[in-house]
Amino acid sequence: MSCFIGKKAINNTMIGLKNLEYRGYDSSGIAYIKNNKINIQKEIGKIENLDKKIEYDENVNIAIAHTRWATHGKANKSNAHPHKIGKITLVHNGIIENYEKLKKDLASSYEFKSDTDSEVVAALIDSLYNKYKDMKKSLSKALKLLKGSYALVIINDDLKDSLFAVRKDSPLIVGEQNNEVMFASDIPALLHFTKNYYLLNNNEIVEANTQQLKFYDSNLKLLNKEKFFYDDDCEVISKQGYEHFMLKEINEQPYIFKKILDTYVKDGKVLDMFDISKYDEIEIVACGSAMHAGYIGKYYIESLAGIKTTVYYASEYRYQHHFFNSKNLVIVISQSGETADTLAALKLAKENNVDTLAIVNVYKSSIAREAKYVLYTYAGIEIAVATTKAYMAQSLVLLLLALRVHQDSNIIKYLCKIPNLLLKYINKNYRKYALTISKYNHIFYIGREVDYYLALEGSLKLKEISYIHSEAYPAGELKHGTISLMDKDKLVIAVVTDDDVKDKTISNLKEIMARGAKVLSITNNLENLSDYQIEIEENNLLTPFFVMVSMQLLAYEVAKIKKCDIDKPRNLAKSVTVE
Ligand code: F6R
Repeated sequence: MSCFIGKKAINNTMIGLKNLEYRGYDSSGIAYIKNNKINIQKEIGKIENLDKKIEYDENVNIAIAHTRWATHGKANKSNAHPHKIGKITLVHNGIIENYEKLKKDLASSYEFKSDTDSEVVAALIDSLYNKYKDMKKSLSKALKLLKGSYALVIINDDLKDSLFAVRKDSPLIVGEQNNEVMFASDIPALLHFTKNYYLLNNNEIVEANTQQLKFYDSNLKLLNKEKFFYDDDCEVISKQGYEHFMLKEINEQPYIFKKILDTYVKDGKVLDMFDISKYDEIEIVACGSAMHAGYIGKYYIESLAGIKTTVYYASEYRYQHHFFNSKNLVIVISQSGETADTLAALKLAKENNVDTLAIVNVYKSSIAREAKYVLYTYAGIEIAVATTKAYMAQSLVLLLLALRVHQDSNIIKYLCKIPNLLLKYINKNYRKYALTISKYNHIFYIGREVDYYLALEGSLKLKEISYIHSEAYPAGELKHGTISLMDKDKLVIAVVTDDDVKDKTISNLKEIMARGAKVLSITNNLENLSDYQIEIEENNLLTPFFVMVSMQLLAYEVAKIKKCDIDKPRNLAKSVTVE
């Protein structure tokens, strides 16, 4: 969402919304006050569709806009935000868990026009406002009745010079500059306007107009909030000549790698970033690619620091049985720092008095603020929905945690050469391999141990941006069922770099080829292993970083050949703030 109070509100709101486009959505809408009247415009599909319909008016000074990623109800105009009911018009991010019960309670007084939980919130606030005739009091009462997650920005017909906002478990930040205020779900929406911003804690209430910006706790006690300054480079939000953000972000990796080393390594030693050696066991909890980085972390932590490490899907972790003890450390990993399942898993660990460490990219995000300890990945803003640089940064920070325990000077020395070496793999031409891959409908990625962990991410990257069905398997598991699928219509992409298990994987490749499937190997093995081969020249403990880059570019090229919307793959959202 992107909401503005001040000069040129429609323009500012729409710029903000466009800067959040990368987060994924299927409809958009705006409400603004003109000639003392609320105007609402909604469209399905791209923001351009909305943009074309808006009558821009520079004199408008209040607007709230939203991009919706369908949860309750289809992606259509009536379900798109803003929702207006009674005197309340609002935009909402999050999910209201008790909306069905609230809707039933409110049904005798309101006629609902959408299938959304958000419209029910608007009705609830309107009913409270009718009762209390005080907007802040109504919001404070609403907070007690709503279950779930929400970031809400609200216009009240009786108070057309103000915007009100509240949040719980869904991100909302407040930018301020010269008595103008902007509400947004993420920093990129603000940066064309200001670098000064406030962070909201759960259940805080904001009242903004051009004279004042006030923050209250849920009991309406006035708060004195800390103002932050975003001091990263604003230029990051442009593609800087690259065809896609994803390609730009892949290219940034050598610089980010160096930045992380500059932060956590000095004079050939890993600094005292965090000591994992005091724990008997580590649990790593995350979602998607962040979880795959967790596996790379497991490989390094177990092999270098000798600490047993188990990796969990956050969405499963929160519902599994746990045997927490004080010698355990729970590491949560998240680029956005807002992923609902990861946040919930973190809270669960905290409630059980286990130490928690968050590895996070977005400064002061919810996960960064909730964890006992935090390490930042310094990857800068990531715009492409499919993560690349943040995944590599997470993997590197985990490696450094292991090296902090086992200060191996050879590995640390070699680490400093990686930024340069990465360039070699970034500049390689993957198109001919991508052309081959693009002809298949089903792909299997295989590997053993760390090669399997890399395969997990390679496969996810390919399927999410090219829409080719792809699965990752431990190479040894194929024989236990999946090999029955091997025929001339299948392509297997094998990661074969780990000396300890290479020979075993090579035998698996022979079995696959004998059944007519083609094999593309990504390998540092010099022999000719397969039908197609991408060579990795390096062969040591840090080879995974070169494989990562090669697989990212391979997926990118396939998606390009297939003319997919690379930066904004269908159905996906950059920040998954709902369960
Ligand atoms: C895939 C991807 C996702 C995220 C996952 C977790 O390219 O980006 O799988 O890794 O949704 O997101 P964060 O890291 O923000 O918690």
